[in-house]
Amino acid sequence: MAGSVAAHIGWEMPATPPLPSLASGRLPAARIRRLRPEDERLYPDFLAHVSAEDRRFRFFSAAELTPHQISRFTRYDPASAVALAAVSPDDGALWGVARLHRLDGPVREGEFAVLVRTDMKGHGIGRALMEGLCRGAPTIGVERVVGLILSENAGMMAFARELGFDLTQDPADPNLVRASARLGENRQAA
Ligand SMILES: CC(C)(COP(=O)(O)OP(=O)(O)OC[C@H]1O[C@@H](n2cnc3c(N)ncnc32)[C@H](O)[C@@H]1OP(=O)(O)O)[C@@H](O)C(=O)NCCC(=O)NCCS
Repeated sequence: MAGSVAAHIGWEMPATPPLPSLASGRLPAARIRRLRPEDERLYPDFLAHVSAEDRRFRFFSAAELTPHQISRFTRYDPASAVALAAVSPDDGALWGVARLHRLDGPVREGEFAVLVRTDMKGHGIGRALMEGLCRGAPTIGVERVVGLILSENAGMMAFARELGFDLTQDPADPNLVRASARLGENRQAA
């Protein structure tokens, strides 16, 4: 399905080592760039196109986001986080967002989260965003990326498996599955 749209990715990221393991070589129509504070204004339209279920899958709560939360999402420390926007090359509308935050501790690990507009799913946008996060990971000192997935979120689990993540039950919470991938390992991403 992703091949049905023209490729156009504009990277606005510092030069980093090539993406080691999760690259698919398949590009969506979206432009992938860093999320900026002014993207706050794009969120209402973006969220209006996200179903309640997808919102819950991403934020583990069906509650609508407050303006304060949206403002916090678009303001982050680039020394410890990478946040990317997938935008329409035509009108700049926000189609998806992904973020990676370095976790405290001795392990060079970062936690990711990703959300694609419900009506734009299945076009390779999530994959492109995850590839972008993995390119950006070395710039914040992250070597392993992990994500927590609600155990009922079969779509995200399939997506993570497809990108080469290992999935394990979270030992602390039976409702959560942990997706984990070490960058640089030679994973097979179809
Ligand atoms: C999970 C999510 C990010 C995937 O984004 P997407 O843009 O739809 O995914 P892509 O089109 O890049 O899919 C890449 C591959 O993942 C797999 N995949 C994606 N969604 C899938 C699904 N629902 N079921 C099975 N496989 C799926 C497919 O193999 C796909 O490859 P294909 O296009 O060759 O079939 C998106 O569905 C989403 O935002 N979900 C709601 C929020 C959420 O669950 N976030 C996770 C919190 S960590």
